Amino acid sequence: MAPIYSSSSAVSTSLLISVVVSFLMAASAGNFYQDFDITWGDGRAKILNNGEFLTLSLDKTSGSGFQSKNEYLFGKIDMQLKLVPGNSAGTVTAYYLSSQGPTHDEIDFEFLGNLSGDPYILHTNVFSQGKGNREQQFYLWFDPTADFHTYSILWNPQSIIFSVDGTPIREFKNSESIGVPYPKNQPMRIYSSLWNADDWATRGGLIKTDWTQAPFTASYRNFNADACIWSSGASSCSSNSPTSISPSPDWYSQELDSTSQGRMKWVQKNYMIYNYCTDTKRFPQGLPPECTATTTS
Ligand SMILES: *[C@@H]1O[C@H](CO)[C@@H](O)[C@H](O)[C@H]1NC(C)=O
Repeated sequence: MAPIYSSSSAVSTSLLISVVVSFLMAASAGNFYQDFDITWGDGRAKILNNGEFLTLSLDKTSGSGFQSKNEYLFGKIDMQLKLVPGNSAGTVTAYYLSSQGPTHDEIDFEFLGNLSGDPYILHTNVFSQGKGNREQQFYLWFDPTADFHTYSILWNPQSIIFSVDGTPIREFKNSESIGVPYPKNQPMRIYSSLWNADDWATRGGLIKTDWTQAPFTASYRNFNADACIWSSGASSCSSNSPTSISPSPDWYSQELDSTSQGRMKWVQKNYMIYNYCTDTKRFPQGLPPECTATTTS
């Protein structure tokens, strides 16, 4: 680090620092061998093309899954998925961030399959300190089985933003000021799995998995994490690390600008099919506080 601090030019110093910051914070784009471990499924999960692709599969005997080698504390994490095509009823493809233990934090995408031609449901949830019950569900504005699409989680100290192909669909803001715990102290790993959930997934469990269609397969590519990596009790972005010197990366302080907010409203108006924040039957004592909070930004 010495050359950075002894540099006489402010411009080249900040340039050098930003090079150091991006080197430490950006996991290099997409190699599944390098970034992930297959954790279950007895050969049903496969890494292909020298690490360029990963596939999960499900048959009557088992599903399969993988997890990231790294733990992250904040980041912008993108993955492209192509979901189980055809009759995927009863299957669930989960893609999420989670920490460990009874008071864990979790940020979820779950894709609930359907009969051929019927829409998938994209189910989202946020857990903080072990408590979830913050479901929002969406239809998608495209067929998620025809092609790869990008599903992103932006997680920083102010908010968690779920996006699909760059369009924000959900924002969970930090509402600690009104007593709502926010995920910010527990590092999380990325997990994904494909499994059978035909007791609830498709039309509430009415439609069962058609095993004559097995194996069911979902595919992944182009993983990218601009993220703070957690290792041996410290973050690559922590305050006692030289990388905390500004400029900090855009995503760390990013919030939705008015254009993005407009696009999110469009999605929520046209494609949202369930929102816990409007489910007054479910919360007869009053909606959760983050639902009614008026925020400044
Ligand atoms: C499946 O299709 C039915 C009929 O269009 C729809 O009601 C349901 O929301 C769809 N998705 C799931 C996961 O059940």
